[in-house]
Amino acid sequence: MKKILLIGGTGFLGSALARRLCSTATSADFCGERRPARNHCVTLPTRRRERAKHLTVLPTARVVQADVHDEATLAQLMAGQDAVISLVGILKGNFQRTHVELPEKIARAAAAAGVPRLIHVSALAAAAAAPSAYLRSKGAGEAAVKAAYPAVTIFQPSVIFGRGDAFLTLFAALLKVAPVVPLACPDARFQPVWIEDVVSAIVASLDDSASRGQTYPLCGPRIFSLRELVAYTGKVSGHPRPILGLPQSLSYLQAWAMEFVPGGPMTRDNVRSMSVPNVCPAGCTLPFGLSATALEAVAPGYLR
Ligand SMILES: NC(=O)c1ccc[n+]([C@@H]2O[C@H](COP(=O)([O-])OP(=O)(O)OC[C@H]3O[C@@H](n4cnc5c(N)ncnc54)[C@H](OP(=O)(O)O)[C@@H]3O)[C@@H](O)[C@H]2O)c1
Repeated sequence: MKKILLIGGTGFLGSALARRLCSTATSADFCGERRPARNHCVTLPTRRRERAKHLTVLPTARVVQADVHDEATLAQLMAGQDAVISLVGILKGNFQRTHVELPEKIARAAAAAGVPRLIHVSALAAAAAAPSAYLRSKGAGEAAVKAAYPAVTIFQPSVIFGRGDAFLTLFAALLKVAPVVPLACPDARFQPVWIEDVVSAIVASLDDSASRGQTYPLCGPRIFSLRELVAYTGKVSGHPRPILGLPQSLSYLQAWAMEFVPGGPMTRDNVRSMSVPNVCPAGCTLPFGLSATALEAVAPGYLR
């Protein structure tokens, strides 16, 4: 049993990871694979505790309301931890503060507290010269974390799918009400990876000291265009619709209009992110001998 601090652990990926880390019984997944009980003690700081109620039922999880941007608070949270997993991410807002300054503070605090393992979740195609502020900030965050804690293990997932995702589930909701879908960036390429595979990779790295100082892209077995993904979602959810692929100029215009919608699903920066393929180097999907799960094996279970 380890003590693990999950920062940004109350969201989509963090919640699945917390469930796995706190699991008390050996369980079988849909492929029949046996997963051992983990029973780790997980601390989950959040800005709003009431939004993380779903995690308070986990037997070995502790949800605490805390400002992780505050260095004294971070130092307190780090004390006695065996591992820190840094998951905070946003798709719009202050990227410098959230993707660069916060991970750097986390890495410094982990190093100062002598925490033996640090795992940082970045994004596929993160790079200093990337076309979007999102990807550039993720790249700068990786560099800042490595400088402060060189043995960090970094994961770079492609888009993640699974029950509760903000990806296929969002398309399914749109397809239910829209008679036709005007789709920005229809030819953008993704290699979607299942959330439980991402969780498996992170959990495996905790037990593998060779993963110190390594960076791992995480992808599913197949590359899709955005148009193919939306068409597939329509077919599986029972709402197939005509898809009208927008050229680049209209993609920007649509994204610009959505920036005025509170909680809007897209920004012009997202369009810039989609101009680079979100795919793994050939032949590389998952590390640690894990095999990647097909989207078609999982998505129908939550899209229907
Ligand atoms: N989902 C994907 O398809 C995908 C793909 C590639 C990479 N990633 C990366 O994977 C990580 C997890 O993604 P996710 O989909 O689980 O995200 P999510 O569901 O949006 O969760 C984000 C988490 O970050 C915390 N957070 C957000 N803004 C914060 C801020 N300003 N200060 C402190 N905490 C903040 C939230 O905590 P509270 O609201 O509880 O405070 C929440 O726990 C992110 O780094 C993301 O960039 C995700």
